[in-house]
Amino acid sequence: MTDLPARPWFPVRTERLLLRELREADFDDVHAYAIDPEVVRYMDWGPNTLEVTREVLDRWLKEQQTWPRGHVNLAVELVEEARVIGSIRLSLQERGNADFGYSYHSAYWRKGYGYEAAEAIVRVAFEELGLHRVWATCDVRNAGSYAIMEKLGMRREGTLRRNQQVRDGWRDTHLYAILASEWAARQANSGAVSAD
Ligand SMILES: CC(C)(COP(=O)(O)OP(=O)(O)OC[C@H]1O[C@@H](n2cnc3c(N)ncnc32)[C@H](O)[C@@H]1OP(=O)(O)O)[C@@H](O)C(=O)NCCC(=O)NCCS
Repeated sequence: MTDLPARPWFPVRTERLLLRELREADFDDVHAYAIDPEVVRYMDWGPNTLEVTREVLDRWLKEQQTWPRGHVNLAVELVEEARVIGSIRLSLQERGNADFGYSYHSAYWRKGYGYEAAEAIVRVAFEELGLHRVWATCDVRNAGSYAIMEKLGMRREGTLRRNQQVRDGWRDTHLYAILASEWAARQANSGAVSAD
């Protein structure tokens, strides 16, 4: 296992978003996107009943009592509306690897929020946590999800065949990843200061 961070690396503020721990008061906002069949179309969970959202939020709130931990789920709050529009997860694994995942309320799609939050998480992974490789997967039909990954400079490493069961059967899954060296080169090319 990668050395776990001594101190929490969140909350993370971006231009429009606050990535922060979940709160009990977020229940309605979380349930609002978790019940939507459009949101969960390519996921292996949902649409949630009230009971399932209750269980999930309880689990997240409980996880938050433990530090250090490698698996972090955060609320994505749209600061302007003080509303949780989705959630994002970063999970650290062995030898500097981590993966992430996200989902958002469909009323907030295609406004750049998904990219903004994912970019912040990948930045933390490389520039604060010093990780080596960050990866993510998505259903091959989930063009919005892999558009975010490609915009981040992640490369498609392969396609897993019929590896995961979702509600309409076995799905094919794209695997994307970016290495620390690629992230640093990307930062250098964009004129930003690299952490390396
Ligand atoms: C997939 C998802 C996270 C995209 O989030 P989003 O906030 O709409 O994405 P953004 O607005 O940041 O868009 C990032 C890029 O993806 C593109 N994009 C977004 N949705 C797209 C879609 N459905 N088809 C093609 N491209 C899409 C955008 O045009 C943008 O590219 P650009 O900057 O070059 O124009 C969102 O649709 C979602 O939450 N879906 C349900 C849950 C889910 O599938 N999560 C991922 C599981 S792997």
